[in-house]
Amino acid sequence: MRKPFVAGNWKMNTDSRTSVELAERIASGSMDTSQKATIAVCPPFVYLQAVAKALSASSVAIGAQDMYFEAKGAFTGEISTAMLKDIGCIYCLCGHSERRHVIGETDELINKKVTAAIGGGLLPILCVGELLAEREATQTDKVVTRQLKEGLSGLSAEKLSAVTIAYEPVWAIGTGLTATPQQAQDVHEMIRELLGQMYDASLTEEIRILYGGSVKPGNAAELMGQKDVDGLLVGGASLKADDFLAIINASI
Ligand code: PGA
Repeated sequence: MRKPFVAGNWKMNTDSRTSVELAERIASGSMDTSQKATIAVCPPFVYLQAVAKALSASSVAIGAQDMYFEAKGAFTGEISTAMLKDIGCIYCLCGHSERRHVIGETDELINKKVTAAIGGGLLPILCVGELLAEREATQTDKVVTRQLKEGLSGLSAEKLSAVTIAYEPVWAIGTGLTATPQQAQDVHEMIRELLGQMYDASLTEEIRILYGGSVKPGNAAELMGQKDVDGLLVGGASLKADDFLAIINASI
């Protein structure tokens, strides 16, 4: 049985006051539900420590939105796995679509990040998903297959258990357009089958596959009702404590 996993991606939002306020409200509002679901928030780097402190009495975990694959040294502006571990991070998003399509990250770079994250003891959330033009050209499976194969390249079966996958169709992120529950289920099923071919089918039954893209309190339960949707990666709605808590409640 895969435990539901709800993660909030705050992106480049909040400030030193609102990040802590939001974390405090999520911590207190999830006291009753936190045993039934894995809950995590991914604040901007500069607020990670303050948010970690605000969440310290709760079981809400913190994750980073990104990291760099090198251990240390002359990499101006970058943040290492060890730094994230040092301040209490458990998870790290790798290959979010905004990093792929706005910043220009490649599958090769993302693979290095996934590998370094696991090597350093972080649990990566590998994000995959197709552009609208790719869906319209019926390329969804091909694109997601490439992103998964290249993103997980060289990773042993043993290390796969550290990975969570997030399927986020790019056309549904921040647009208000959500994949239908069936569209999400179709891709999630394809992902699980592919992982079964790449690794072992019994092993991939344990891997959690999250859906992301305009998740709201009103669509969370239906998405979570799909067999292969094991959790939700929430952007905009995770910035409102009431919405994020309602999504958690709808997911368990
Ligand atoms: P959204 O973002 O919920 O605002 O669509 C999801 C994400 O980018 O992770």
